[in-house]
Amino acid sequence: MSGAGNMAAGGGPAVGSASSPLVAATPAPPFDIVRIAHVELGVADLQRSRSFYEQGLGLVVTRADANAIYLRGLEERGHHSLILRQESAGACLRLGYRVRSENDLDAAQRYFAAKGLPAEWADTPGQGRTLHVTDPFGHPLAFYASQQRMERRLQHYGEYYSAAIQRIDHVNLFAADLQSTHEFLAGELGFRTSEYTDTDEAAPRLWAVWMHRKGNVHDVALTNGVGPRLHHVGFWVRGELDIIRACDVLATTGWRAALERGPGRHGISNAFFLYLRDPDGHRIELFTGDYLTCDPDFEPIGWKLDDPQRQTLWGHPAPRSWFEEGSQFAGLQPQEPLMPVKPVVAR
Ligand SMILES: [Fe+2]
Repeated sequence: MSGAGNMAAGGGPAVGSASSPLVAATPAPPFDIVRIAHVELGVADLQRSRSFYEQGLGLVVTRADANAIYLRGLEERGHHSLILRQESAGACLRLGYRVRSENDLDAAQRYFAAKGLPAEWADTPGQGRTLHVTDPFGHPLAFYASQQRMERRLQHYGEYYSAAIQRIDHVNLFAADLQSTHEFLAGELGFRTSEYTDTDEAAPRLWAVWMHRKGNVHDVALTNGVGPRLHHVGFWVRGELDIIRACDVLATTGWRAALERGPGRHGISNAFFLYLRDPDGHRIELFTGDYLTCDPDFEPIGWKLDDPQRQTLWGHPAPRSWFEEGSQFAGLQPQEPLMPVKPVVAR
């Protein structure tokens, strides 16, 4: 199919058309995911990591015990959006999603169990009733409807420091079978697509995709590559100056080597960004400046793989490490991607 009648407002072919690799979000998923809510990372040295995230980036420590530290952003009312656990250093241990209600949690348990996938109840400090599942690609996920409510620090401006991180925004995953992963998230779980990159071929293949439940650009993005692996965790900050401030603080407090890419402006998502590597190599993005996507007639915005402005609006390429390195999921051997990776890297 071709022609203007098949074109979406975002510039590409309409979702679900024969010429689009995108799958429309199911309007009736088996359970209602609200948003990405936390990430759990394995670290080697809890105190070193606490120093990076608390003093380096401005996160708030909610709880610290012998094995784990629970942190949240300044506006967050929930107990945590980041758990650092002293095991499997350098590995991502779990991705956590909020669901709408306790009934949705029970529906999630039935959905994964019916597929023969691991789905077990678990206890995590600060979280309500929690379901741990493994999705068809091996991602370890947590679902829960509630967290212990904390006092938000939004208007405690005297406590703002460095990036003054406000909240978690998204995760970005390397996917070896990106098309199938996209089809599962959209067609099964109801994630809507905001932006995507595809190849310049007669039958375009999907290279990367940004998907959301909460109504901004993404809760989860997929990037073609050796996977499954965690590419990065994105935290939302108030604006560009907080990112510049974080660069100055990190560069002068012993964390200069943490600065990997940026600051800069993405073409995709319009976000102002900075990518950091934490003491165990986990990649963290400071992120601000995206936009609303919740209108029902929102059309995904398409980019071509060879457009230099999709990565960075200003045109400068990313370092090779950004394309090749990521955090493995504990106990999960990543696979080579179905599509060969040909990054455009900085010299
Ligand atoms: Fe990101």
